[in-house]
Amino acid sequence: MKSLSSMAIGVLIASATSAAVISAPASASTGVDLTQKNGCMACHGVDKKILGPAFKDVAKKYKGNADAGALLAKKVKDGGSGVWGPVPMPANGGKINDADIKTMVDYVLSLN
Ligand code: HEC
Repeated sequence: MKSLSSMAIGVLIASATSAAVISAPASASTGVDLTQKNGCMACHGVDKKILGPAFKDVAKKYKGNADAGALLAKKVKDGGSGVWGPVPMPANGGKINDADIKTMVDYVLSLN
């Protein structure tokens, strides 16, 4: 029965993926999911400041900055303070892999 159940899982994954594609562009929806799943929204709002800056303000600040992707990925990974105020963002590098961090940073920068 192993192959049957893994087929069922495959079908589930396939239908979940296509549902996401229909409701929003795939990369944006993945970025949203990841920021929710990883607890980013406890400190960030899409368009409102909580402890950290609104993601839309981040996108605005780095608009036209070709290095923004690398810079922000490093910041999310290592944490730090001083760009938006004295409150530090905790490091996330140990908990979240680089690919997921990049997806979230791309999503934040896309909110322009
Ligand atoms: C405990 C609260 C907290 C959590 C959780 C948090 N952040 Fe932050 N974040 C902050 C604060 C505070 C700042 C502002 C830091 C500064 O002023 O340099 C910030 C800044 C940022 C910035 C802008 C960095 C810059 O240098 O301009 C990005 C992008 C960001 N966060 C993304 C994320 C993502 C993605 C996650 C989830 C993995 C996350 N944050 C989770 C508090 C948080």
